[in-house]
Amino acid sequence: EAAEKAGFEHFMMKEIHEQPKAVRDTLNSVLVDGKLDMSAVGFSDEDIKKIDQICIVACGSAYHVGVAAQYVIEDLAQIPVRTELASEFRYRKPLLSKNELVIIVSQSGETADSLAALRLAKEKGIKTLGIVNVVGSSIAREADNVFYTLAGPEIAVATTKAYSTQLIAAYCLAIQFAIVRGTIDEAKYLELIQEMAQLPDKIQKIIEDKERIQWFAAKQVNAKDIFFIGRGLDYAVSLEGSLKMKEISYIHSEAYAAGELKHGTISLIEDGTLVIGVLTQSELYEKTVSNMVECRSRGAYLMGLTTYGNYNIEDTADFTVYIPKTDEHFMTSLAVIPLQLMGYYVSVSKGLDVDKPRNLAKSVTVE
Ligand code: G6P
Repeated sequence: EAAEKAGFEHFMMKEIHEQPKAVRDTLNSVLVDGKLDMSAVGFSDEDIKKIDQICIVACGSAYHVGVAAQYVIEDLAQIPVRTELASEFRYRKPLLSKNELVIIVSQSGETADSLAALRLAKEKGIKTLGIVNVVGSSIAREADNVFYTLAGPEIAVATTKAYSTQLIAAYCLAIQFAIVRGTIDEAKYLELIQEMAQLPDKIQKIIEDKERIQWFAAKQVNAKDIFFIGRGLDYAVSLEGSLKMKEISYIHSEAYAAGELKHGTISLIEDGTLVIGVLTQSELYEKTVSNMVECRSRGAYLMGLTTYGNYNIEDTADFTVYIPKTDEHFMTSLAVIPLQLMGYYVSVSKGLDVDKPRNLAKSVTVE
């Protein structure tokens, strides 16, 4: 097992470091001469033009990819998207339109609820696409089309590299749908692809800065509750950051859409409660800052996660992590890295079993 960890103490840390390669491999699998070629995924332009709605169905972190994908696809391709938990979707007699596309996101391709959701959509005659990491898995075999993520085998229960590659798959779909449907022009299309191609190096750079997060995380071992707040895509990544934290550190954490705090959650803020504000979306920046200020005035200790250049966050936050800029549709891919590292280092500092947290399984094949 030590050999398999390639010098890392845990699989999770090894897999965090494998993300630049996993992201690059996944992107390269659909790139030909600087353009997207989705022929292996099986979509013709005619198919793409016919889609009138998209429903993304998944569990766990894959569901969080769906939440991010919803913002990206709607914004770029102007197709209405909803994202649903597979365990809810399968029991609620969903109304699906004839030209809807149901996308099932699953690392293992074996999650029972996700597989049942796929079968339900197929029974209704709806076209299905699997975003799957394991070749030959049940969801990969049964979906009409498959976009394979090339994360390679993931051992740690807490997903990192599979999540990152699923995001890439979602971006590629959004961009391809957008160019075919004419909601972006050729220049924007090429610019987005070039931006995506730079993500691996930027992820690498964030990982290289990990000691700073380690230092901060080590101080959180006695935390009782941690809150992650953000708006839009920053809310989507907050969901994933919070899940990473709670599943491996056993510290209660919650992700909240920042504007929703005032409807209840803010009553939980006590002196010293850590609130992590994610601020990567320029239009929402000031709004989330003001929510962070509200938390601080109730005693919260604030961490800000934002892009280089937003140095005025230091007027508000007690500790800040800066990440490189990219197109704002892709910020989730960068913002998630410090949040993965936070969860990891809190867990390590508490001496917990990072790779095999209690009560959890890598692949949940029961409903
Ligand atoms: C389990 C794993 C999660 C994963 C979820 C969905 O709960 O611990 O990391 O996100 O299942 O798994 P899937 O294989 O369908 O992506």
